[in-house]
This record gives sequence, C-alpha cells and structure tokens, in this order.
Amino acid sequence: MTDNTFSITNTVTVPIRGAKKERVFLRVSDAHVAFAYPDDSQAEHEHAKKQTALWTQSGIAPIDAFKSFIALANDKKPDGVFLVGDMIDYYTASNVKYLAELLGELDSEYIYTWGNHENGSYGLPLPSNEEMRQTIAPLMHGCTDFYVKDHDDFLVVAIDNSGFDIDDTLLGRVEQVIATGRPIILLMHVPISTPEFDKVAWSTLDKDERTKPSAIKFAQMLRNSDNIVCIIAGHEHFAWCGEFAPGRYQYVSAPCFKRFVQEIRVVPREDKTNT
Ligand SMILES: [Fe+2]
Repeated sequence: MTDNTFSITNTVTVPIRGAKKERVFLRVSDAHVAFAYPDDSQAEHEHAKKQTALWTQSGIAPIDAFKSFIALANDKKPDGVFLVGDMIDYYTASNVKYLAELLGELDSEYIYTWGNHENGSYGLPLPSNEEMRQTIAPLMHGCTDFYVKDHDDFLVVAIDNSGFDIDDTLLGRVEQVIATGRPIILLMHVPISTPEFDKVAWSTLDKDERTKPSAIKFAQMLRNSDNIVCIIAGHEHFAWCGEFAPGRYQYVSAPCFKRFVQEIRVVPREDKTNT
C-alpha cells in the first residue's frame, strides 16, 4: 500500500540582515488539483479524471498529494505557507471551490500566487478573465497579481508573472516596494533565466516564446535590486536552485504531486554585506 504521508524534501536557509528571529515557511507549487462535483457536467468529470491520471506520477493523485501537504503543514505549524502557482490544473468554478475547501483545512496563513494554469482551460469553455480573477481573488487576499505581507524584518511579495508580461501598473507597484529598501522574498510562478538555469530550464520569464519586453525589463530589475534576497518560483516541474545575482538565490520547486515540499528558514544575518 502506498504511503501518502508527506515529509519535507529539503530545507533552504535565507539569511536576512536585521532579522530579529528565525521564521519558518513551507512552500509548494504545481499541485494541479482537478476536481468535479456530482452535479458538474460529464465533460468536467471526464476532464478531471483525465488530468488527475496525467499528474499521478509518484503513486499519489494530485488531490491526495495536496491533502498530504496540508496535513504536514498542520503538523509543522510554520509561520506561513507559500503556494506558488498552478494550484489548480485548469480553471473551473468547481476547481476553485474545491481548492478553497482544501485550503479551509490549512491552519497556517498562506500566500497564493497565480500560475499559468489558474486560467488555463485545456478545451473547456472559460469565462472572462475578469470573472476568473474575481472567483480566485478571495484565495489571494483579494488581489490576484500583487500582494505584500509584512513580517516586520522583511517583506514577502507575491506577483503574477504567468503571462510573461509585467504591465506598467504591476511594474510600478514592484518598483515602489523595492524602493522601500526593505529585504524582499519574492514569490512568482515563473522563474527568471540565469546562465546555469538556462541549460536545463524549458521556460523562463525572460527567455520564452511568450516573453514580452516588459518581462525582460522586470527580470533585470530583480537582478539589479540587492534587497530582493531570494526568488521562490515553480512552473518547471523540477527542483533547481542557483544564483540569479551574486550571492542571491532563486529556488525553483518540483511539483506538489511529486511530493516536493520545501522548507524555507529565514535567519538573522550578521555580516555587513547584505542589504
Ligand atoms: Fe505546473
């Protein structure tokens, strides 16, 4: 019988100068939850069944994997949980509703960033972009493209970069928060390119066929801003970490359905080189 108990896959340490105490976060991405309620259409049921089979790659169905993650998080009681996009496999009101039910079981405060699957369809009819955003917004603190959580010693900033295009409004918000000079842990679904990452990545924000000039400008802004202390991303469906700028790391996760759970420990940094 398969063991559905989850454990932490790896731990990364993020030193932040000025941090007064250690804080622990758990993060997952790419849960790809696909679900249909009894009253949903036959097409939705068939779709959920097909996609669930597609993402059952480690002896556990995506929904059971996410439930196991929630059980782990409730056991570990972290200071917060990061959900870094593609938490549903495609948009239906039922998928969002079911995800909300699952998240209702999570004891910790969470930050949920938009991934490219949150408004994906795979052939099912989609409502307007505005309607999809309104439906998912309650799970994202009311804002689907930008959210800031203040942890006193540092900020956690979540942005939607899933469209490979950072519009002027979003760019302005990010510029504003960077200009505060405060240390920032940045959550976004799609990682940025680095010379090392480009050897293995299949899609990055600034080197993808969908990339707009604004995304290239944004990625460069992150590299140039010393107070972006780390980037937490998903999207690739494999785990990777490496520097996106000297001394600053990007952590890319494997999917939740492959049982990947990363622990992020923010610790005080004593030296004088950090912002
Ligand atoms: Fe994904």
